[in-house]
Amino acid sequence: MGFAILNGEIIERVNAFVDVEDRGYQFGDGVYEVIRVYNGRMFTAKEHLRRFVRSAESICITIPYPTEQLMSLLEKLIQKNSLQQGIIYLQISRGITPRNHAFPVGDVAPTLVAYTKEVDRPVEKLKSGVKTILVEDIRWLRCDIKSLNLLANVLAKQKAAEANCFEAIQYRGRDITEGSSSNIFIVKDSVVITHPSTNLILKGITKDEILRLCTANAIAVVERTFTLEELMQADEAFLSSTTGEVMPIIEIDKKIVKDGVPGPVTRRLQAFFEEEIKSKCGNL
Ligand code: PDD
Repeated sequence: MGFAILNGEIIERVNAFVDVEDRGYQFGDGVYEVIRVYNGRMFTAKEHLRRFVRSAESICITIPYPTEQLMSLLEKLIQKNSLQQGIIYLQISRGITPRNHAFPVGDVAPTLVAYTKEVDRPVEKLKSGVKTILVEDIRWLRCDIKSLNLLANVLAKQKAAEANCFEAIQYRGRDITEGSSSNIFIVKDSVVITHPSTNLILKGITKDEILRLCTANAIAVVERTFTLEELMQADEAFLSSTTGEVMPIIEIDKKIVKDGVPGPVTRRLQAFFEEEIKSKCGNL
């Protein structure tokens, strides 16, 4: 895509360079967001920007623009790139300074970058469901921060890729936490169950949207930890993320979930979620 945002300006992406001593590059010292764009319009942008500000504040980085200004900058970027279906990637780091673990002393401006990418909806996978594997959650204890440090997530996703699977579901002790880049849900006896939004997982924007849709449509839902055993004996399982939406899980570590096809509650939630997209961003 032709244009990117670098520190508040929209410039040609080929000219959008960051110094080798940027702390995002050297330490992963920053945070990011991924925002979905349907029909040229951002979906749940306010929620994503709120989380962006919160993540940044959690590591003592202040976003140098008001949220409204950032929002209109992102809208301009979408227009400049004529983006219809895709994502915006947005990140901020603690800035450029000689390498030293401690925060820089004095006025070092954070580096903010954003660019767009064309991404289609995963229509086939949404219909058929996806396969997953289980991996131990080896991440730190602040998974609620959308940090640039994604090494454990990268290693987990690579294991999934090598096993020809879409996602790696992580467990800590006996408890399921979340996917390498998604939140995990099970359905048992018509009740939707998902890990509470604590420090051990990312509070997914899609997750929150699903919780809301459950309540609005009288689907029983509870945020509580559930175990590996509960996952393996679930009636249905699905994952959620900005790009994956409400994605049925049909296999876990080579074991088929129930009948091996997306279940009825998952299907209903997919339909409600699609309606939500259409009402905010127009027909798909
Ligand atoms: N990933 N958990 C983790 C660890 C994630 O990285 C993500 C998102 C989610 C789902 O959050 P949301 O519904 O707000 O997208 C949960 C993004 C898409 C990514 O890193 O590409």
